[in-house]
Amino acid sequence: MRESTSSGTGTGTGTDASIPVSQRAIKIIGNVFFSVFVFAVLILTVVAITYQPPDPWLQSSISLTKALSQTLPNSTFQNDDSLLKTGEDLTTLAPSSSPTNEQQQSSQSPPSSSSSACSDTAALNCSDPAVLSAIQRFNSKVFRKSLVFLAYDTPVPGAHPDHECDASWRFRNRRDKSWRRYRDYRRFRLARADNCTYTVVSAGKFRSGANAAPAARRLPRSAATAAAAVQPAAVPDAEINDTIPAVGSESDFRKGRYLYYTRGGDHCKGMNQFVWSFLCGLGEAAFLNRTFVMDLNLCLNGAHTSSGRDEEGKDFRYYFDFEHLKESASVVEEGEFLRDWHRWDRRSGGGRKARISVRKVPTYKVTPMQLRRDRSSIVWRQFDGPEPENYWYRVCEGRAAKYIQRPWQALWKSKRLMNIVTQIAGGMDWDYDAVHVVRGWKASNKDLWPNLDADTTPDALLAKVLKMVKPWRNLYIATNEPFYNYFDKLRSHYKVHLLDDYSEMWGNKSEWYNETMALNGGKPVEFDGYMRVAVDTEVLYRAKTQIETFNNLTRDCKDGINTC
Ligand SMILES: *[C@@H]1O[C@H](CO)[C@@H](O)[C@H](O)[C@H]1NC(C)=O
Ligand SMILES: *[C@@H]1O[C@H](CO)[C@@H](O)[C@H](O)[C@H]1NC(C)=O
Ligand SMILES: *[C@@H]1O[C@H](CO)[C@@H](O)[C@H](O)[C@H]1NC(C)=O
Ligand SMILES: *[C@@H]1O[C@H](CO)[C@@H](O)[C@H](O)[C@H]1NC(C)=O
Ligand SMILES: *[C@@H]1O[C@H](CO)[C@@H](O)[C@H](O)[C@H]1NC(C)=O
Ligand SMILES: *[C@@H]1O[C@H](CO)[C@@H](O)[C@H](O)[C@H]1NC(C)=O
Ligand SMILES: *[C@@H]1O[C@H](CO)[C@@H](O)[C@H](O)[C@H]1NC(C)=O
Ligand SMILES: *[C@@H]1O[C@H](CO)[C@@H](O)[C@H](O)[C@H]1NC(C)=O
Repeated sequence: MRESTSSGTGTGTGTDASIPVSQRAIKIIGNVFFSVFVFAVLILTVVAITYQPPDPWLQSSISLTKALSQTLPNSTFQNDDSLLKTGEDLTTLAPSSSPTNEQQQSSQSPPSSSSSACSDTAALNCSDPAVLSAIQRFNSKVFRKSLVFLAYDTPVPGAHPDHECDASWRFRNRRDKSWRRYRDYRRFRLARADNCTYTVVSAGKFRSGANAAPAARRLPRSAATAAAAVQPAAVPDAEINDTIPAVGSESDFRKGRYLYYTRGGDHCKGMNQFVWSFLCGLGEAAFLNRTFVMDLNLCLNGAHTSSGRDEEGKDFRYYFDFEHLKESASVVEEGEFLRDWHRWDRRSGGGRKARISVRKVPTYKVTPMQLRRDRSSIVWRQFDGPEPENYWYRVCEGRAAKYIQRPWQALWKSKRLMNIVTQIAGGMDWDYDAVHVVRGWKASNKDLWPNLDADTTPDALLAKVLKMVKPWRNLYIATNEPFYNYFDKLRSHYKVHLLDDYSEMWGNKSEWYNETMALNGGKPVEFDGYMRVAVDTEVLYRAKTQIETFNNLTRDCKDGINTC
């Protein structure tokens, strides 16, 4: 209607002066309507382009989106590099098999008072179901708020067999959104109650039950083997298995469809940018129904290395759970992939056997939607061009953001690091508060964070924390402040814990040291800045009270002045 009005006047009489006033008014109104219409269309288009699908990270921190859109031309990540969020912090996962275990556990727990010999004089028998039941009751009372107990093994005698038993079990932290299980084993001192039951008199610290430790269990111990036979539903020992899978036979390779990203400008950038970009690639692969070819070699940004220079050749598996990734997404390791590809091409070289078809995609401007119908075996994104044109995550920008979901649930932190987290949190019996203190480059940039430095001085910190945490609690400080004694002022009010207090957990006698060395061809692996960040993040998220720098300690904004 609006258009007919304007075209009607256009083809009408030549001179405006001859048009009656009423008609001129209609023309003006028509024009106004038309501009409103155009404007509305424009707005809708902009909204459609900038629309972001629900992405857990975006939901949990809108500021990242803001930071991203503001800095798109040079794409520097302003978001915190002292925390690293992954799937287990963001999405609640559909429990796979564990609820049944929990139910099994609870249906198991009613004590079988049918225990044959029940005389007050009999010696303590740790395999007596009444002992296990006493320990279960004790645990679920003490750790009700923090832990879920999944599977107990039959207790074994402790150091003093007449009144001690060592028990071991699997558990999950309630704050953990993954369904990974961890092991604990403790020593319990038991007393006999009147009516054929036991009570726990006292319990040892985290992993104090040496006789029930997994290594001790492997010995041919008659009680343990008997117990294993009795409990067929026991959870199998989740040894970490993150070996690199082979692609398979040649014909398997030929049948596969792959999405291959050449290394882009993200390489050697911060770890948060790595995650953001990697998940974009993984999301595109899922959208295209292809296997993602991934490079397990990461580059650690100089800000987080002890040498201060970017360091190549860090294994993905130091930081992330490759086993879980293999199970939740279709991936193949780059080296295996290239070997098979070249082998195939050589075989088919002179012959008429089809070579592998490859679609080379030089720029991110070719959208995932345009590649959807491509039947080539390999879609090879090459990321030519200068920064920031060559960042992987640009593939997921604009209209593509509506189609591609980053599979956050596929990316968890390395179980090896999580074992350290469990030891730290378990050492405090999961009863601690934590404060996240951001310093480092943000504290020294007075233009963007004018108050941060002053608000995180030891005195300011103490004054603020005293208002939020009761004195003499365990206080874990997650921080990028390198000076260990910086927080000494808090020690006269709290039991302060810093990551550096736990250095034996990655020292050269530790399990972690042995395991990462095996991944690294027998050479020791340095516990680097990103591992520190990963552990700090997870210990922080398991604390009872969590104090954040931005919001709780300072008025400054996370992403710099005027961003909140
Ligand atoms: C790019 O980075 C510089 C330096 O961090 C910053 O001043 C600037 O605002 C950023 N954005 C653009 C569009 O250049
Ligand atoms: C301990 O109790 C278990 C289960 O009730 C029983 O099989 C075992 O024979 C007992 N051992 C001793 C030494 O009494
Ligand atoms: C003994 O059994 C009764 C009832 O069966 C129960 O109320 C009581 O708590 C038990 N005593 C102990 C010490 O557990
Ligand atoms: C590890 O998993 C792979 C499959 O991903 C399997 O072939 C291999 O046997 C497993 N290794 C061990 C030691 O369990
Ligand atoms: C994805 O690919 C597999 C085989 O590669 C095929 O069986 C499946 O139907 C495909 N799914 C979709 C949605 O195209
Ligand atoms: C382990 O570290 C300690 C101190 O850091 C050092 O004295 C010792 O030689 C190291 N042992 C090995 C086997 O590297
Ligand atoms: C690490 O490996 C060494 C040598 O293989 C072994 O002696 C040590 O017991 C291992 N430590 C742990 C904690 O597994
Ligand atoms: C920290 O700030 C947030 C947001 O203002 C608030 O919800 C939270 O309760 C504060 N935490 C503490 C420990 O006071």
